[in-house]
Amino acid sequence: MAISVVKSHIWSSYLSFLLHIFAASLLLLTTCASAQAFSEVGSEDVDSGRNNLYSEILRDEAVARLNELGKVSDADSYLERTFMSAASLRAANLICGWMEDAGLTTWIDRMGNLHGRFEGMDPSAGTLLIGSHLDTVVDAGIFDGSLGIISALSALKVLKTTGMLGKLKRPVEVIAFSDEEGVRFQSTFLGSAAIAGILPVSALQISDKGGVTVQESLKEHSIEITEESLLQLKYDPKSVWGYVEVHIEQGPLLEWVGFPLGVVKGIAGQTRLKVLVKGSQGHAGTVPMALRKDPMAAAAELIILLERLCKNPKDFLSYDGQCNDSTIESLSSSLVCTVGEISTWPSASNVIPGQVTFTVDIRAMNDMGREAVIYELSKQIYQICDRRSVSCIIERKHDANAVVCDSELSSQLKFAANAALKRMTGEIQDEVPTLMSGAGHDAMAISRLTKVGMLFVRCRGGISHSPAEHVLDDDVWAAGLAILAFLETHL
Ligand code: GLV
Ligand code: MN
Ligand code: MN
Repeated sequence: MAISVVKSHIWSSYLSFLLHIFAASLLLLTTCASAQAFSEVGSEDVDSGRNNLYSEILRDEAVARLNELGKVSDADSYLERTFMSAASLRAANLICGWMEDAGLTTWIDRMGNLHGRFEGMDPSAGTLLIGSHLDTVVDAGIFDGSLGIISALSALKVLKTTGMLGKLKRPVEVIAFSDEEGVRFQSTFLGSAAIAGILPVSALQISDKGGVTVQESLKEHSIEITEESLLQLKYDPKSVWGYVEVHIEQGPLLEWVGFPLGVVKGIAGQTRLKVLVKGSQGHAGTVPMALRKDPMAAAAELIILLERLCKNPKDFLSYDGQCNDSTIESLSSSLVCTVGEISTWPSASNVIPGQVTFTVDIRAMNDMGREAVIYELSKQIYQICDRRSVSCIIERKHDANAVVCDSELSSQLKFAANAALKRMTGEIQDEVPTLMSGAGHDAMAISRLTKVGMLFVRCRGGISHSPAEHVLDDDVWAAGLAILAFLETHL
């Protein structure tokens, strides 16, 4: 009762916010109702769907939805949707219509996650959660995150149209998480970590570049969150059966082996750092080279150090108590490090900068090895900064340990993926491959709540986090069919 009151309160505040922006953005806002009309599929289509494996819903409509959602952006000329931005709310509203179209009851929670739930025959049975994220990186592709939400909704819509939805043995809940990329607040999984109960209350006070906190960004849209209500977002592990996520692979392996789908056996751990280098701001024409304390030149040396360390960890790390042979071996095959963002102050061509800030993203399958890399990197960063007479501050912004997917759930997903491909091709295929994920996913946070399993979908050229991201229409279909086959095991 209490929960539904809170839900309806948030939902009505959310709707009043949408009405508020409706006047200002009449053309951009799609209401639940119009989204539903867009996705209407007639009974004729359903009949032919039985013969052609529901390609109208699982492929044609799913691809149309991906394209439509891919146009919902905060920027005019590229795709960008960050936590609680206006475009994120428009995207949530669009997805909300598709959830209702699939027969689900919808609400938005206090962290901005959108939920769509069907109770099934036994509402007290453990809930099958299926999800992915609705936020994007800057200049994103249209599949990252959206594919997982849309393929789940398409599969549920097939069950609804065939009259099988009511036969689900357990509740099924699709969640479109509000923040996985961490672009706005530099802290990933704000949405899924809240559901898993691992988001510290201090996260509410993290600020974006404009000084707006997470709490304020929610309040701007009439969503009130307090430390207490954040803790209440945590799901009871006993009420959950497991979590499944479909996601674009974001790498080249499936294309290379010629499979549309693959089963994920684990996800690399990751750490994000922010490095601040402070030097002495000065005139580019008057300060002799020998007298400079240039944070830009120091940052360049630090970035090259990072590249050398991550290309050859075994040349840098000692084989002592922390790093044994297998750790070094695992690092050598999985360690990847990136500086993706850099800013300088005051950023003018005739000024030696006063300070430079850059991000570091470090990922590896082995958590101890990742810690050893951070230890060695930090040590050498301070040495270089001392030598250059600049000061350095290293801030740890985000950590997530590597995750091993549940073996039983992975076997069930493999069975479902094999069944889907067999239904599509009519041939006995080789078994779908199993692979690791270098990219982070909401499944990492949800693994702290329940068992998780993931399916990857092939992408062109292994490209992601780029507008060139592409998934074949038939591979979108394969993903929908696989989730449908998986859901059928819960009938
Ligand atoms: C999310 O896409 C990440 O892996 O950074
Ligand atoms: Mn991403
Ligand atoms: Mn993603």
